[in-house]
Amino acid sequence: MDVWQWLLFFICICVKVTQTEASSWTIDVPSSVKGLLGSCVVIPCSYNYPNAKVQTFTGIWTNDGNQVIYHPTESKMLEQYRRRTKLLGDISKSNCSLMIENLQQNDGGPFHFRIELGGYNSFSYLNKKVSILMIREPNAIDFSAHEDIKEGQPVSASCSVFHSCPTYPPAFHWSHSGEQHFQAQKLHDGQWKATSILTFRSNRTDHNKLLQCRVTYHGGKHQETSKTLKVKCKCAFLNIC
Ligand SMILES: *[C@@H]1O[C@H](CO)[C@@H](O)[C@H](O)[C@H]1NC(C)=O
Ligand SMILES: *[C@@H]1O[C@H](CO)[C@@H](O)[C@H](O)[C@H]1NC(C)=O
Repeated sequence: MDVWQWLLFFICICVKVTQTEASSWTIDVPSSVKGLLGSCVVIPCSYNYPNAKVQTFTGIWTNDGNQVIYHPTESKMLEQYRRRTKLLGDISKSNCSLMIENLQQNDGGPFHFRIELGGYNSFSYLNKKVSILMIREPNAIDFSAHEDIKEGQPVSASCSVFHSCPTYPPAFHWSHSGEQHFQAQKLHDGQWKATSILTFRSNRTDHNKLLQCRVTYHGGKHQETSKTLKVKCKCAFLNIC
């Protein structure tokens, strides 16, 4: 074997060792996630357990007082969390992502995940807790549009906001008709950026009109922003259209 083959060989061994280490009691969850009051939040989560034969998977989320905020059997949950929490992913495939709907002021946590593996063992991931940083009002909308438009030319405007509920992303509504595109970008710590892009062909009747973008979050909170369109005539020199 030459030097490169040896190198490859060692890299493979290293990867193998890392994989073995990963299959013990570990969890990947942010320490905090921002959540909009009255809306929903998704805590992204994935867990690992030692290689073992497992018959059933029971995923549970609890608070610091070991009170249950999510359990597949609803009667085991604290009253105020029933019908508000939900496991989103496939619990048998290491996905422990939790959604909390209709966020309340005292939903801040910290919370932690517990897995009960039927026929094997149970484990509470107490070393990695997650808190929800409650936000009263959403951040301002990031709005961009060309202000000076030439008559007949295509106009494109974009409106974006941050959120942390990819299951029910915010809805965008534009005051002007046109073609709309939606983009979702995953950031870190459960944050997402949602963007709506509107394109349309401008004409004279748009001059001095307000172009408004309205964003409605799951749960009903909304905000809006606008800009005044300035449409120049084709024959700007003579200023007649
Ligand atoms: C867990 O499940 C959710 C919902 O299906 C999905 O969006 C997410 O990507 C999954 N996470 C992982 C790490 O696979
Ligand atoms: C100008 O645009 C408006 C709004 O898109 C449309 O209703 C109208 O028909 C257009 N007028 C012309 C002359 O194209």
